[in-house]
Amino acid sequence: MRFFFCVLAVFGLAKATMGTVAPDAATFFDSTIHGNLTKITWVHAVNNFKKLNETLADESIMMVEADIVLGTVGNFSEIIPIMAHPPNNNSDLSLADFLTAMVKHKKKGVKLDFKTIEAFNASLELLTKHRENMTFPVWLNADILRGPVDADTEPVDAKQFLSLASKTLPESTLSIGWTTKYGIVNMTFSGNYSEAQIDEMIKTVSNTSQPITYPVRAGLAAGGITVWSKLLNNTADKNATLTIWSAEGDKVDVDQLKKLIQEVGYDRVYVDVPEKLQKQLAGSATAASISTFVLLSSIFLGNVLLASLF
Ligand SMILES: *[C@@H]1O[C@H](CO)[C@@H](O)[C@H](O)[C@H]1NC(C)=O
Ligand SMILES: *[C@@H]1O[C@H](CO)[C@@H](O)[C@H](O)[C@H]1NC(C)=O
Ligand SMILES: *[C@@H]1O[C@H](CO)[C@@H](O)[C@H](O)[C@H]1NC(C)=O
Ligand SMILES: *[C@@H]1O[C@H](CO)[C@@H](O)[C@H](O)[C@H]1NC(C)=O
Ligand SMILES: *[C@@H]1O[C@H](CO)[C@@H](O)[C@H](O)[C@H]1NC(C)=O
Ligand SMILES: *[C@@H]1O[C@H](CO)[C@@H](O)[C@H](O)[C@H]1NC(C)=O
Ligand SMILES: *[C@@H]1O[C@H](CO)[C@@H](O)[C@H](O)[C@H]1NC(C)=O
Ligand SMILES: *[C@@H]1O[C@H](CO)[C@@H](O)[C@H](O)[C@H]1NC(C)=O
Ligand SMILES: *[C@@H]1O[C@H](CO)[C@@H](O)[C@H](O)[C@H]1NC(C)=O
Ligand SMILES: *[C@@H]1O[C@H](CO)[C@@H](O)[C@H](O)[C@H]1NC(C)=O
Ligand SMILES: *[C@@H]1O[C@H](CO)[C@@H](O)[C@H](O)[C@H]1NC(C)=O
Repeated sequence: MRFFFCVLAVFGLAKATMGTVAPDAATFFDSTIHGNLTKITWVHAVNNFKKLNETLADESIMMVEADIVLGTVGNFSEIIPIMAHPPNNNSDLSLADFLTAMVKHKKKGVKLDFKTIEAFNASLELLTKHRENMTFPVWLNADILRGPVDADTEPVDAKQFLSLASKTLPESTLSIGWTTKYGIVNMTFSGNYSEAQIDEMIKTVSNTSQPITYPVRAGLAAGGITVWSKLLNNTADKNATLTIWSAEGDKVDVDQLKKLIQEVGYDRVYVDVPEKLQKQLAGSATAASISTFVLLSSIFLGNVLLASLF
């Protein structure tokens, strides 16, 4: 009986999304997640052949995140879209090879994180070439607005990104967010997305008809949770969702983050965070992330203390 329903569920999935270009992730993985977006599993920085091979061999992974910059492959001198995270500009894996492998595999979604508008522009031809065969979720990601806390990273040009995306792959999901300055690298451990930053996003996407997910940094998103229902309600016509992400060394108030996820709803929030935070969200203990922070702070303060002694 149970087997029968499983077969039906898988058949339902196949029927619902078969042949569809860049289907919605919730629909594509529905037989596994049953509407609960937090159950989607992720892998990050699939920017070389070794990691790509491991990823493709792992059936438990649903969404594959990878970074695209302009650079070179191996010892070739031609500058093309490659899989790498800045400041790297050399890789053994080109976007062309990455897409060919994903299209052949068919079972996983991709989140393509474009670091510059030039890298995106140079990738459009490849996206067009593979368009009809990308029958899995395709997210086009870029930080298009300046965000917290007074982030100094230059965002990707919003107007150009949105316009090129809709011309090239109107079926894709836009994963568009804010640049951030936070965490251990920047010695910034508190902050939040301001109402003005939310309003700017609502205005920026007003003419967009593609589905949208907003990548938001866990520690900052949990720092002020009232803004999210405003953002999602005001862009509900784009089936807007949040994707919570986090970096190692970020301070995250786990209880507040849990509250955020519950308030926004499991059907409107993807959770793509490091394993440790994932476990904290699933469990009831929240002490660990604070203790990391205390540990890091005491190292920092210890250094200051030592420095002042000498
Ligand atoms: C969604 O999935 C998460 C992770 O498995 C689980 O903790 C949560 O209870 C689920 N929520 C609902 C409403 O099913
Ligand atoms: C990855 O897999 C491809 C095809 O199966 C193979 O040609 C290649 O050598 C592998 N690369 C690495 C680094 O494992
Ligand atoms: C790659 O980065 C190195 C070191 O920053 C730089 O010297 C080189 O010009 C860059 N190459 C390309 C193709 O951008
Ligand atoms: C380029 O790299 C390949 C192997 O990765 C090597 O066989 C070849 O000799 C290299 N060519 C040059 C000009 O360095
Ligand atoms: C965009 O790419 C096209 C060719 O793919 C190139 O002709 C054009 O100069 C690029 N524009 C920018 C702003 O990079
Ligand atoms: C797309 O798939 C079809 C059918 O399998 C194939 O004939 C075609 O060559 C593929 N296109 C690309 C760009 O690989
Ligand atoms: C924040 O950290 C990034 C590296 O992640 C660095 O490029 C940037 O300059 C830092 N900004 C400040 C103000 O420290
Ligand atoms: C949206 O389109 C209208 C009408 O074409 C235009 O006036 C407005 O500037 C556009 N807004 C954005 C944010 O692109
Ligand atoms: C957000 O941060 C600002 C300062 O950057 C602070 O004044 C405000 O109280 C914070 N909001 C919340 C909800 O914590
Ligand atoms: C957003 O919409 C939900 C459900 O429609 C509603 O309960 C909530 O009050 C709205 N929030 C805002 C800030 O408009
Ligand atoms: C939102 O979801 C509905 C129901 O699945 C679908 O019909 C509609 O096309 C979607 N809209 C966007 C902008 O993705």
